[in-house]
Amino acid sequence: MDNATHLREDLKSYYNHSERYIAEMQSHDDAYFDDQLDWVAENLLRLVGAEGRLLDLGCGGGSSTKAFAARLPGYHCTGLDISEPAIDLATRRFAAANLAYRAGDCLDLPWADGSLEAVISRDMIEHIPDVGRALAEMDRVLAPGGVIMIRSPHHRSPLFALQDLLRLRANYPFTKSWAGNLPRLIELSADFVAKLFAREPRFRYRTPDLSDSVVVGLDADAVYEVSSLDLTTFFRNRGYTVHNVGATYGTSAASRLVPRLVPYFASIGLVVQKPAANG
Ligand SMILES: C[S@@+](CC[C@H](N)C(=O)[O-])C[C@H]1O[C@@H](n2cnc3c(N)ncnc32)[C@H](O)[C@@H]1O
Repeated sequence: MDNATHLREDLKSYYNHSERYIAEMQSHDDAYFDDQLDWVAENLLRLVGAEGRLLDLGCGGGSSTKAFAARLPGYHCTGLDISEPAIDLATRRFAAANLAYRAGDCLDLPWADGSLEAVISRDMIEHIPDVGRALAEMDRVLAPGGVIMIRSPHHRSPLFALQDLLRLRANYPFTKSWAGNLPRLIELSADFVAKLFAREPRFRYRTPDLSDSVVVGLDADAVYEVSSLDLTTFFRNRGYTVHNVGATYGTSAASRLVPRLVPYFASIGLVVQKPAANG
């Protein structure tokens, strides 16, 4: 087995066996997904229409998929996650005529080409060891005119590195001490400029900590360092229209202003649309 295959197997094993992680995902309830629900529903109704097939990638505890199914009755909504125990729990907890759950890997999606109108993921892309392949899979299963919406933290934003530096705090798991933020800010700024001019995405990976020794949710298990520029470059190269880049997290004035003023530095709130068949 080569290193990439080992890493993929280790991550799969972690998401299938970490009881803490699976329990944490089950605790993400309706309130947790509240803001995402409006965002997804409004964009889908505007860009795609009232009917279709929606895939919620990396659905974890399944609450998000259940909420989409209730909010978008014209959509058949499927939640997919690599964690079989998480999918078993979701299937036992939630049921609706337009709702399904399925265990599977976003690197090998069990759907035919062009068979879905919407692919949604929240806080999943940073856990994927081969992002180019995951994005290519999303593109493959999406129908012409369909929409992909990705929400995630933005690990490679120089703005957040600057914020951490000014606050003198460590940026776990990317820097283990506040002093590490200065070299990181310099490296991220240079990489941001390089990404701006790059023709292809410059995906950057890290070694995840799968020991389960830190608080779940701090991204110790993140393997891809998410960048809005990687994602937009990937989809623009495939002819997609980029409708939105930055997300609002929280209710502070800054969290509302940053995505509007400097969307490429904000948290990720990507909305991209595949060209129509005749487009
Ligand atoms: C941080 S959790 C987010 C879960 C959920 N979206 C939420 O916000 O509560 C990341 C999820 O991605 C899933 N995941 C990781 N790698 C995956 C893969 N290759 N294919 C599908 N799901 C994956 C994990 O099992 C986990 O449920």
